[in-house]
Amino acid sequence: MNGTLLASAPVAAPGRVREPAAPAFDGAGLLKTGAIELGDGLRVWFRPIRPDDAVRLQEFHQRLSPESQRMRFFSPMRELSGGLARRLSRLDFQRRVAVVVCLPGDDAIRGVARYELVRDGGPAEIAFVMEDDLQGRGVGKIMLHLLARYARYMGITHLDADVLPENQHMLAMFERCDFPRSAVWAAESVTVTLDISRGSCDKHMLAG
Ligand SMILES: CC(C)(COP(=O)(O)OP(=O)(O)OC[C@H]1O[C@@H](n2cnc3c(N)ncnc32)[C@H](O)[C@@H]1OP(=O)(O)O)[C@@H](O)C(=O)NCCC(=O)NCCS
Repeated sequence: MNGTLLASAPVAAPGRVREPAAPAFDGAGLLKTGAIELGDGLRVWFRPIRPDDAVRLQEFHQRLSPESQRMRFFSPMRELSGGLARRLSRLDFQRRVAVVVCLPGDDAIRGVARYELVRDGGPAEIAFVMEDDLQGRGVGKIMLHLLARYARYMGITHLDADVLPENQHMLAMFERCDFPRSAVWAAESVTVTLDISRGSCDKHMLAG
């Protein structure tokens, strides 16, 4: 994906819906609201998730195809409960971090990338999901690099992802990222480990 960073300080044009609001916590400047133009010309916005995103997360989940829901949660899950949506949107940005992607002038969530550090000194566990129409357009790879850069700043050296073995799309995304990686295959899942202490995190920075 050859995204070009266009702007980071959204300004509402007269008569148009405002761009996503700036986050309350900007993660030392590394996770700011910012726009990138994708290789196909679509302009998308990235921002840290906010506590008031719980309902937007539920709506986003309902728009996903059953296949995308299954790839993300490893089982058919037609609805995201209110409790889970709140848990997934109220993060501390220390151990639990998430970035969402939106389209211009619309705060609806179109994709989420997150990590959770379960154990000090261990890898952080990452998970991704994009709206079906947005898949394969390079957004996941941008979000991986945004998260990795932030995780590296927080002292994390490895990211782990549990992926269904048939999830060629996710495995392809890791194959094309800039970090050394290893994979452990089991019958029901593949655990991919990315070494983010090496490789470049700076390809898709959101400028202040
Ligand atoms: C997996 C997922 C998050 C990837 O995000 P994405 O935005 O679609 O991925 P990208 O477009 O950034 O793809 C990254 C790379 O993989 C390549 N790729 C994407 N789909 C591919 C496919 N089906 N076959 C081969 N390569 C593929 C892209 O070409 C891109 O490489 P490039 O930059 O060299 O062109 C997204 O497809 C998704 O939400 N899937 C459903 C949920 C899911 O599987 N979650 C993972 C559970 S952790």
